[in-house]
Amino acid sequence: MVPIHDNRSKTDEAPVRAALRAGERAPSVCNTRPWALTHSGSRIAVSVDVDRRLEVSDPKARELVISCGAALYNIRTALRAHGVLPKINILPDPERPGLLAEIDTTHSVEPSNLDLLLYPSIGKRRTHRGPFTADVDDVRLVRALSTAAATEGAALRLITDKGLVQSLAGLVAAAEHVQRHERSHAEELARWVRSPGSRRPDGIHAEDFPPEERVTDAEFPERDYGQNRIPGMLDVHGEVTGTIALLTTVADTRSSHLAAGQALQRLLLTATAEGVSAAFHTQPLEEPLLRAFITERLCEGAHAQMILRLGREHQRTPNGGGPISPLTAGS
Ligand SMILES: Cc1cc2nc3c(=O)[nH]c(=O)nc-3n(C[C@H](O)[C@H](O)[C@H](O)COP(=O)(O)O)c2cc1C
Repeated sequence: MVPIHDNRSKTDEAPVRAALRAGERAPSVCNTRPWALTHSGSRIAVSVDVDRRLEVSDPKARELVISCGAALYNIRTALRAHGVLPKINILPDPERPGLLAEIDTTHSVEPSNLDLLLYPSIGKRRTHRGPFTADVDDVRLVRALSTAAATEGAALRLITDKGLVQSLAGLVAAAEHVQRHERSHAEELARWVRSPGSRRPDGIHAEDFPPEERVTDAEFPERDYGQNRIPGMLDVHGEVTGTIALLTTVADTRSSHLAAGQALQRLLLTATAEGVSAAFHTQPLEEPLLRAFITERLCEGAHAQMILRLGREHQRTPNGGGPISPLTAGS
């Protein structure tokens, strides 16, 4: 592979432009893309776009900041892959809480194997919806995902007990059903659902779903983006719910949410490089009482930030069959 950083001498703008493009490809709640990514000279700023906040389901902007954290991690990864060492100042100005991070791009670095491996995953990663064909049963990969989260200041907690998985699925179902029948929630969600054929880059599109409804054995209902699907009964042929995990942080501050977003994206890119996808079910974390219950009873008091299902979609060769993988690439 030709090192991407070889191009840097031709134009110093190239890494910054690649970083901004990478930032725009981050996952975000309801695909709201609630960030403003700007650059001035050698400095990139990641700010919140308050007009894109979900006032009903995310009044404290927790999911918004997690989304921006994911964008920040993509920016960091793209810069490093282009030979730039990102020097990051998190929440640099207490007077401007909407300014989440400033990144100085004047220093160079030799990209690591991991940087070069994770960077292409930015364009390949997509949110999965529906069942998987296999769980994440590779212990080394689970360890790599946990390390990815821990390195960014969060923790990945696997829920392996069948009863607890069913309980969590029940909480997702409870939140989903309540939100479906609450007018303010439904109206807010409807604003982010795009009509068929829409070319807008933001919002949820019909193509974001599998063509037909397929249910999982532990019933984790999808958020209803207007397709009116009611979760069915257990009827699964060779398909599985996936490995259930919670992403948690010790504190529950804005900087913890930013860390959770970076941890989320680091583990998602690591998973993508290994042919593993993730589905999200954040509905109960938008209900303060349910979130407190999950934090207290399933996370030993660590604050629940994301609920994930992880698994394989189809037979895919990890990492395009290449010799390096997140399991061997180091940091
Ligand atoms: C904080 C956060 C919460 C999310 N919650 C859900 C969810 O509850 N259900 C879901 O299907 N997708 C959820 N997503 C995934 C987004 O809908 C997805 O990232 C967005 O539609 C863009 O699609 P992509 O990830 O395939 O690029 C969430 C993503 C983030 C960052």
